[in-house]
Amino acid sequence: MAHSLGLLTVVILLFTVYMHSTSADEIVCQPFKSIPFFSTPCTKPKWAQQGITVAGTTGKQGSSNIQLIGPSGIFIDPYDNLFIADEGNDRIQKFSPGSKGVGLTIAGGNGGGSALNQLKEPRAVYVDSAGTLFITDRGNLRVQKWFTGSAQGITIASGRGYTAHWFQGLSGNRKQINEIYSSESIMGRGRIMKYPLGGDDSPSYATLLGSVTRNPGGIVVDECNSVYVADPFGGNILKFSSGNSTGEQIASGLITPNDVALDTYGNLYIVERDTNRVQRLNVHDGTREVIVGNKEGAEGSDSEHLNKPWSIAFDSENNLYVSDKENHRVQKFSFHEGDLLC
Ligand SMILES: *[C@@H]1O[C@H](CO)[C@@H](O)[C@H](O)[C@H]1NC(C)=O
Repeated sequence: MAHSLGLLTVVILLFTVYMHSTSADEIVCQPFKSIPFFSTPCTKPKWAQQGITVAGTTGKQGSSNIQLIGPSGIFIDPYDNLFIADEGNDRIQKFSPGSKGVGLTIAGGNGGGSALNQLKEPRAVYVDSAGTLFITDRGNLRVQKWFTGSAQGITIASGRGYTAHWFQGLSGNRKQINEIYSSESIMGRGRIMKYPLGGDDSPSYATLLGSVTRNPGGIVVDECNSVYVADPFGGNILKFSSGNSTGEQIASGLITPNDVALDTYGNLYIVERDTNRVQRLNVHDGTREVIVGNKEGAEGSDSEHLNKPWSIAFDSENNLYVSDKENHRVQKFSFHEGDLLC
């Protein structure tokens, strides 16, 4: 009798939990996979400590197809194509998974300049599900959109006469291909903007989502339109929830956090430029640890070091890519073992 009563209690409890989670799903947007209620003990995720150079040639800047000059923002599409803002070469390079380090110029590459077939010091690149490129064309104070295979870009946002309007990070929400998010600064004041893609570059089309004290770094947008932005000057990561222009500080005490990435469980990955490393913030237990690069922050050019890393991205197998700006290369740190939910 006691046994079957216990069983009944468990069944009712499970049913209650199930009903609760179902109704919650209907009301609140869930940006991340939830951690299983009955999770078995699991191993913290680990990445190889030695990086493999997948683009560029260590310490040898240049403009051949196996070289880069000061790579900045990187992006990886769902097919594991790697896109690099090859800043010093005024071009965007694409490295497909079988490229063996040979890049293809898919935007710019016609010398630094402001013609529509040119770029000048591109900082970030984002590619939507239709393969359209979005590029912060920093030296030209504009954001360019390039259709796949197009020989030139279209301006979708620009400084429109302001002399100090710097575009920095770019991101989109994977669920929506009709808008692009940008981190930028005007006269030293940072802001996060959303641009619709149908219109021209008129500022009246843009939406101000929030402000950052000074020049913001890279951004990422989750499935519920919350924007995460690296704040290199403040040493913080800020989160702007959809519809709320007050940023929530979700990490602090960082050294020049320059770019940010998320995994499917909402854990945060942060590249610290001046301490040459990548940290992982487990948002569930609040712990933070260095996952690649030198723990003490030393710079270097061997496989275990970075030199002014700029941007980070993951491929479909959780391998971590880092643009290693001063080494003129992009490094891949293979996912070793463990579970992202831990
Ligand atoms: C907006 O975000 C701030 C910072 O996280 C928070 O304090 C505030 O309660 C939020 N406002 C609303 C209406 O959710």
